[in-house]
Amino acid sequence: MEFRRIDALPPYVFGTVNQRKLEARRAGEDIIDLGFGNPDIPSAVNVVDKLIEAAQNPRNHRYSVSRGLPNLRKAAADRYWRRFGVALDPDAEVIATIGAKEGLSHLLWVLVQPGDVAVVPEPSYPIHIYAPGLAGAEVRRVPVSADTTYFERLEEEVARAPRPRVVICAFPHNPTTICVDLGFFQRLVAMAHEHGFLVVHDFAYADVHFDGYEPPSILEVEGAKEVAVELYTLTKGHSMAGWRMGFCVGNREAIAALAKLKSYLDYGTFQPIQIASIIALNEGDDHVAEVRETYERRRNVLVDGLSRNGWKVERPSGTMFLWAPIPDPYQEQGSMAFTLDLLDRAKVAVSPGIGFGPSGDSHVRFALVENEHRISQAVRGIRKALDRL
Ligand SMILES: Cc1ncc(COP(=O)(O)O)c(C=O)c1O
Repeated sequence: MEFRRIDALPPYVFGTVNQRKLEARRAGEDIIDLGFGNPDIPSAVNVVDKLIEAAQNPRNHRYSVSRGLPNLRKAAADRYWRRFGVALDPDAEVIATIGAKEGLSHLLWVLVQPGDVAVVPEPSYPIHIYAPGLAGAEVRRVPVSADTTYFERLEEEVARAPRPRVVICAFPHNPTTICVDLGFFQRLVAMAHEHGFLVVHDFAYADVHFDGYEPPSILEVEGAKEVAVELYTLTKGHSMAGWRMGFCVGNREAIAALAKLKSYLDYGTFQPIQIASIIALNEGDDHVAEVRETYERRRNVLVDGLSRNGWKVERPSGTMFLWAPIPDPYQEQGSMAFTLDLLDRAKVAVSPGIGFGPSGDSHVRFALVENEHRISQAVRGIRKALDRL
């Protein structure tokens, strides 16, 4: 049978690594898994308690509302105000989504169609490429950077017909960990006004930042709400990945369009999850700080350990990843073969950079999803395996 929309999707590169990892584990190997960015830190105890309590109330077993409970949207707006000084109207400028990923995917359905163009970062978190692609749009990749080279390339794209209707970006960036300041967003918002595109900012790592760096929301820029929306999620900062709770905030026309589509597609997240998420947003700032500190300690163990091994890596200021250039003596083999070697010889799983786009092939991505002790063990395994360093 033919499945026209999905037959065009390339095979999932990470599947190969996963398969090899499973085989090694089945053979009794202890593999340290720093591949998939699946957070291992528990969600906050009071949030879990609230979920249990709310789940016991039969009133919460019914369909909920697809755009999210009013108090949930208010809690998200309140957090934006506390954290970024951005005022959001919970009724018109906030919609709950089933994580950032679903929000982004369906948002692109309402924003683009065949004949439209979307600009995405290169390398890229896969859904940034496939969400516009699945909606039928032409996808153009612009190398991600925090400096003027990004805007020079974007200028080239807006000069080319058909002009992009949407520009997707995400900072702190997965996989490269590139971070930007407010000046970057000021320039992007100015370009969006001038050229008439909508900016979709995936802010998945809003709460995962280190060393005094605080990632800005694009909505802090004056006039941003006219040309931008932002995806915010409890997945990483609140360590609530499996709960699937996110938000799309900002431009009210885009939010209304997404709300209309979602009213046809879903009845909202299970209500106890929404109720517990209100607690997370209103009372979770300390937990978010603990999550952040945990990732920071892991980052330090990994960066310091790899550097001692002779593997030069930069210390990221945000995200839960390390984007590591493959060391020179191994560069030629490319990221997939290097990843499989690390798995076989160091017993460490990472993500091959090629999975994020062709320019990623010179790198591998470590996710900080095992504890410090296990990360130290990974560093020792890597030291033994990379004997050409
Ligand atoms: C850039 C980016 N966006 C979105 C997600 C997924 O977020 P959610 O769990 O809210 O769908 C991730 C998770 O790795 C991510 O890295």
